[in-house]
Amino acid sequence: MHMHKFEKIWLIFGVGSLILFLTTIGVSAFYMGHHPPSSHTTINPEKVDVTPPFNNPGVKKLNDNEYEVVLVASAFSYVPNQIQVPTNAKIHFKVATKDVIHGFEIAGTNVNMMVEPGYVSEFTQTFRKPGEFLILCNEYCGIGHHMMTSKIEVVE
Ligand code: CUA
Repeated sequence: MHMHKFEKIWLIFGVGSLILFLTTIGVSAFYMGHHPPSSHTTINPEKVDVTPPFNNPGVKKLNDNEYEVVLVASAFSYVPNQIQVPTNAKIHFKVATKDVIHGFEIAGTNVNMMVEPGYVSEFTQTFRKPGEFLILCNEYCGIGHHMMTSKIEVVE
């Protein structure tokens, strides 16, 4: 008789934990879905190639001290796969994906964003020293994920 009572308590405890667990997951998924990580600019992922500025990816000089760098991500590369920017200038990165979620991390800096279909990911960075920086995809995107890179050359 006592055993039954304990079993019942454990069952209630188990079901309770499960409900709590599922609720937590559901609530986090809800909030994640409503807060795109780095920008609220939207883009049709199927029309990235014809949507400015992504129809013309690369480095654009805005003024003496500011540049816009536009990159298109798709499995498993970035276009362009190499860019050159000067030191001590404000570099505005704009990245969009044509297919799945990709990452955009510039190794050795604090640039690290998620590139989600439907959104433009933006980040502004200033490089103080010349050198070579690797852009890496840090979101698993498929079989060629580990080969998905690009390169930034920072020159004086
Ligand atoms: Cu793109 Cu991993």
